[in-house]
This record gives sequence, C-alpha cells and structure tokens, in this order.
Amino acid sequence: MIGANTLQEFVVARQAEFAGATGDLSRLLTDIGTAAKMVNRHVNRAGLSGILGAHTPDGNGSTNVQGEAQQKLDVYADDTFHRVLQSCLKVGGIVSEEQPGIMHVDHSERGQGKGYGKYVVCIDPLDGSSNIDVNISVGTIFGIHRRRTPLTEPTSMEDFLQPAKDLVAAGYVLYGSSTMLVYSTGCGVHGFTYDPSIGEFFLSHPDMKFPKQAKVYSMNESYLDEAVAGVKPFIKECRKRGLTARYTGALVADFHRNLINGGIYLYPGTDEKPGGKLRMLYEAQPLAFLAHQAGGSTRCHLHDLLYRTPTSLHERTPLFTGNTSEINRLVHSMETAVENITS
Ligand code: AHG
Ligand code: MN
Ligand code: MN
Repeated sequence: MIGANTLQEFVVARQAEFAGATGDLSRLLTDIGTAAKMVNRHVNRAGLSGILGAHTPDGNGSTNVQGEAQQKLDVYADDTFHRVLQSCLKVGGIVSEEQPGIMHVDHSERGQGKGYGKYVVCIDPLDGSSNIDVNISVGTIFGIHRRRTPLTEPTSMEDFLQPAKDLVAAGYVLYGSSTMLVYSTGCGVHGFTYDPSIGEFFLSHPDMKFPKQAKVYSMNESYLDEAVAGVKPFIKECRKRGLTARYTGALVADFHRNLINGGIYLYPGTDEKPGGKLRMLYEAQPLAFLAHQAGGSTRCHLHDLLYRTPTSLHERTPLFTGNTSEINRLVHSMETAVENITS
C-alpha cells in the first residue's frame, strides 16, 4: 500500500530531525529524484524511441574511461544526471562512471550563485546497462559526500576519495517492474515507488532492513573456479543450507532483491582480475552505506569496505554485501582457506 508521503515531503520532514540542517541536502536528493524520473521515462520507452543498443557517435562504438562499451542509455542517463546536478546549487563536483575526471560545477560562471556547492556526487548513471536491450532491470547508484576543500575553490580528489562511512547520503534507483528510489542519510533506509500516472515517488518501504534469514546468494558463478580462496566452499555451503541462486547482472537489482528477501551478493577478485570489476566510488561505497543502515555488512575481501579510503576515482574493488550472518560465514570461509594455504 503506497503511503501519502511523496519523496519531497518525506525528505523535508526528515531534515527537521537534524539540528542546524539547512535544506541543502534535501534539495539535492529531490533533484536526484527529478533526474530519475527523466531517465525512467526513457528506460520505459527504450524499445520505441530508438535508444536501444550501443552508442555510436561517429559510426563506431564508444567506450568510457574504463574501456567498457557505452550503450545509448548510458550516455543519456549520464547527460541527464549531469544536467540536473549541475543546476543544483548545492553540488560542487561530480564523478561519473562515464566521465574520465571530476566535473567541477562553478555556479558563479553561470550566473547562478556564488562559487561551488558544498556536496560532491559520485554516480553510476546506468547500472547493468547490458540488460537494457533484453528488457531486464537496470538502475542508478549515487553517493554524496560533504566536500573537504573550501567552497571558493574547485573540488579536488580529496573531496571524492573519502571512506563510505563518511557519506552524508547514498541511494539507488531501480528501473524494474516498478521504479523505486531507495536512499539513506544515515537514519535508516527508505524506499519510494514511482507512480507514473501522478509523476511522483511515494513512500512505500519505510525503514528497510535485511530480513534475519538469507534466502539467496547472488554471484556470477562462471567465476567460481578463479575466485579468491574461500568463495567456492562458501557457495557450496550456501547450496547445502538451501539458499538458492539469483543473479540479474545489474548490481542494483541484485542488491535490492537481497535487501527485501535476505541474501548476499558476491563479486570477488579473480586470478585474472584481483580487484574484481565493480567500482568503489559509485557502486560499492553507496551500497555499503545502505547495507550498513539496513543492518547488513559489506566486505572488500576480508576488510570492512565502509572504512576503506579509495585512492583513485575509478578504482575497482571486490564486493561482498548483504546479510551480516552470511558475510560472517563468508569471512570465516576465506580465513579458513588462507590458513589452509599457509599451513
Ligand atoms: P555497469 O552497467 O554500470 O557497467 O555495471 C555492470 C556491473 C553490475 O551491475 C553487475 O553486477 C556486474 O557488472 C555484472 O558483471 P558480470 O557480467 O561480470 O557478472
Ligand atoms: Mn554499474
Ligand atoms: Mn553504469
């Protein structure tokens, strides 16, 4: 049953709980909701509006900074979030999966206000974009830090390279059978469902928590043989305990299902890619923040990912996230594997 609270009403009401809150973060969160509506419209009509498939600006496929093929919707979602965030006076800089460096936002240059905003945003504009052409869920992931450098200067690396524990807010949008926006400002995780007939996100999942019991493990099992030691025995043990496998290829969708039904997501380092595939700033960190707020845990192999300080904008990280009980079992399995190797 959808409640009466719109995203905007809820965000503003919650802001009153923070002493000294100015409404800046609320404004930024509602702007992200606006951009999400625009992307949602395109995702929903993708098959009709000629925006399926690869982005081919000059007749050839384009790649992003990580050498990955860009889909048309990757580029559209990146442009849309960029446009909306740039006009938000609260934003001083943006890092996107689709852009090589920091995009500084100087409001004075555009006659919109003084200098640079106080927040920086890390964003994966379209997560799971290879799902688009086959009509399976995709998402957007975002993390928001308060910048550390003076507001009069352009943002710099130190504003973005902060540990996930210091995020002021994080969230995701899931463009699925319905579209949801899920976010946290450090006081629980709240989910909103989009009603396209009204054009608003309504509170549908207040105070989301991982259920006690996990039902699912989510891993691309084609990497099982090369995965870091301890993952394979853990997966075998999951099967014995009756957990079942679910993996969509969109991190947002897999994380969301596991948050609702209970489960663990694994993207380990492998022999070929010890750092795994997923990106620290705009995939792993926001989800680690949400998992923690929802009573779950996140590891970068044996380390608590919340406390890791990134060293570059597009750094990759192994990622295990979900029910704390499952994470603990996995860590135990990895520690045992390491002991066996060294003894
Ligand atoms: P993106 O589309 O933003 O590049 O992210 C894709 C990611 C993630 O969403 C998903 O969990 C993972 O890639 C799937 O990778 P594999 O195909 O290696 O399983
Ligand atoms: Mn992604
Ligand atoms: Mn992406």
